[in-house]
Amino acid sequence: MQEIKDRKWWKEGIVYQIYPRSFQDTTGSGVGDLRGIIQRLDYIKSLGVDIIWLNPVYCSPNDDNGYDIADYRGIMPEFGTMEDFDELLAGMKERGLKLVMDLVVNHSSDEHRWFQESRKSRTNPYRDYYHWWPAEKGTPPKRWSYFDVESNAWKYDEQTDSYYLHCFSVKQPDLKWENPAVRKEIHDIMKFWFEKGVDGFRMDVISFISKEIDYPELPAKYNGDFVAYYSNGPELHTYLNEMNTEVLSKYDVMTVGEAPGIGLDKALDFVDADRAELNMFFHFDLMALDRAENEVFLMRQDQWKLTEFKKIHTSWDQVFAEKGWGSMFLNNHDFPRSVSRWGNDTRAHWYNSTTMLQTFLLTMRGTPYFYYGEEIGMTNIKFEQIKDYQDINTLNRYNIIQNEGGDLDAFVENEKSASRDNARTPMQWNEDIHAGFSEGTPWLKVNENYKEGINVLAQENDKTSVLNFFKAMVQVRKDHLGLVYGSYRLLLEDHEEVYAYTRTLGDERFLILLSFSTKKVEIHLDEIDFETAKLLISNDSELLVNTKRTFELTPYQASVYKLS
Ligand code: GLC
Repeated sequence: MQEIKDRKWWKEGIVYQIYPRSFQDTTGSGVGDLRGIIQRLDYIKSLGVDIIWLNPVYCSPNDDNGYDIADYRGIMPEFGTMEDFDELLAGMKERGLKLVMDLVVNHSSDEHRWFQESRKSRTNPYRDYYHWWPAEKGTPPKRWSYFDVESNAWKYDEQTDSYYLHCFSVKQPDLKWENPAVRKEIHDIMKFWFEKGVDGFRMDVISFISKEIDYPELPAKYNGDFVAYYSNGPELHTYLNEMNTEVLSKYDVMTVGEAPGIGLDKALDFVDADRAELNMFFHFDLMALDRAENEVFLMRQDQWKLTEFKKIHTSWDQVFAEKGWGSMFLNNHDFPRSVSRWGNDTRAHWYNSTTMLQTFLLTMRGTPYFYYGEEIGMTNIKFEQIKDYQDINTLNRYNIIQNEGGDLDAFVENEKSASRDNARTPMQWNEDIHAGFSEGTPWLKVNENYKEGINVLAQENDKTSVLNFFKAMVQVRKDHLGLVYGSYRLLLEDHEEVYAYTRTLGDERFLILLSFSTKKVEIHLDEIDFETAKLLISNDSELLVNTKRTFELTPYQASVYKLS
């Protein structure tokens, strides 16, 4: 076999993301906790995944479910204690699982001690930990906020007659990375967790950390597309490089940055190993595919096209073909469930489309990230009423539309396919009350379809379940390094219903066929002889070879062949 350069555990590993609030409650509080995750470690191990990414578990007033951190070295009491955390980490190590934590350092909570101090006086030693604009200079130049009812990122604070910057909610003031003391604090926090044995960080909105601190007036072009401005701060790469030198280079850890606003042209600046910054990042091109233009949260009226879907993945694969490394995901805690969005969650197509999407993630180059529940095909909950939502983003946007006298019904309809809460409903473990997630009242409603086979227990006992397909497909990836490192070549580029590609490593060659159609589709592949191709896995027992080079795919069928 061909020698592979730069083999790394984080390239070969499969990530399983856990939203702790929704995973397993052991106290009856209705909120998931660390002991719940401990209880489920054997289950996680049984999936065949290697790395757990845990959404924030630090002390937080939960204005944005833990993305507003009040103490970076403390565990949120709702989730448990540091002893629980240590036990969780030990339990993971025992099972050979790695742990990646969430690092949320573009902003802290306004309840963090640093901010409490910072707002006290203009001369406080922590004043310069945050971005302040003195009111005597007039109203600060426009900056946009995601979670503000006026979309205004400046909040007036009476105590010192100044405004502070918050790109997210008023309770999430932006940290001032331009201050070396802030960077030092952050490096120390990272070391604290690495010394405990944590294996890496997912870095929240890391592309936003560097700001122009004279806060210039911005050209109108950024109105509506402010992400392009936020993600291009002048010192961004200086800070990432410094973080690498000071901290990351000293440990065998992985990093994945969340990078809204970063396109293909800037990709390698982050992950080219020679630049010593990050290992991987999440781009947002796919997440924008079905959204209205310049809108992160509004769905497009017309449907997305498979050719566009392929184009995104093909160009991202190409950019990392020689250097860097990709990260593959179809959903997470900020986006709706993958099967409801990219597949088809109706009864007739749910099984095939869920497993087809799993096959896709597990046969592309780039580290695959699965989100809890994806392995059993959890779907969007599609709440009918605004009162069922908890997400700050949905509630804030509702208020904005209400203030503008906009169409609230249309908004609630949109949220059925767009809201982040679709992906945050509790894990469906079995058919007990609240799907076995909690004996109390869950913080967010459980999807009733846990009674219809979308739960772990039922699927563990069913050989033909989504869960068992997932495990088998994970094994296929594990058994074939070519599916991890092999080069990717797109076939049938213009086909609107089938995504077909090969992966090649040395003389090992694979063919992947994925149907995105609700109907049977016939394809012709001149270079493939189906009669000699060896089937490794398919989500459908019906395999329809018409002639040597013509193949029919059933709705949402996925098949992986070994060609040589
Ligand atoms: C990231 C997180 C999201 C959070 C936001 C602010 O996008 O993934 O959940 O609301 O940053 O921290």
